[in-house]
Amino acid sequence: MATSVGIFDSGVGGLTVSEALHRLAPALPQRYFADTACFPYGGRSDGVVAARALTLARRLVDEGCSLLIVACNTASSAALLRLRDELDVPIVGMEPPLKPAAARSRSGRVAVLVTAATARGSRLARLHDDHANGVDIETVPMPGLADLVESGEIRGDAVERTLREGLDGPLSRGVDQVALGCTHYGFLLPVLRGLLAESVDVLHAAEPVARRTVDRL
Ligand code: DGL
Repeated sequence: MATSVGIFDSGVGGLTVSEALHRLAPALPQRYFADTACFPYGGRSDGVVAARALTLARRLVDEGCSLLIVACNTASSAALLRLRDELDVPIVGMEPPLKPAAARSRSGRVAVLVTAATARGSRLARLHDDHANGVDIETVPMPGLADLVESGEIRGDAVERTLREGLDGPLSRGVDQVALGCTHYGFLLPVLRGLLAESVDVLHAAEPVARRTVDRL
């Protein structure tokens, strides 16, 4: 069987990673699993998300995938270490791009938009400890935002209102970097660009993860 990369997420979010990988390696076969039966992961416990992630990862390996991408911050937070322990293929995970955001910030203030489950996970806390470097990082849980994207609403009033509610406070405190900590939010880059001043950068990890995957191959 040809080498293929298995990618999974709770829904469409991981397609942002799949698309970045396809741009870098168009001939590389990909197998994508959207776990819509269990969407949204962000509202579930770590135990439930980890169990799902393990089931999906095993299934993709059984189907011939020789490398996996957990194209979901929530599942990476809940299960990445366990997946790496239990499976015999390389596994690339996602994490909110806090490190580049903190490094680029001129104001010393960064906002990271995440699901509720990622917000309370120990992985995000560890990222803060490792990479904040004196930069003030505000974690902004965005309940309902991935649901809008999953249902196809990637622009319009509801999306703009939800983003404003999450970002108005951090922006008023001088945030100049917005790190996207959920793959679904990658679909909101155009609307975010329209809402934010030019001096505010938006960082999404899809492309770096695609590059890391190609390096691993
Ligand atoms: N796309 C997922 C992530 O990166 C989560 C969306 C959800 O199911 O809540 O966190």
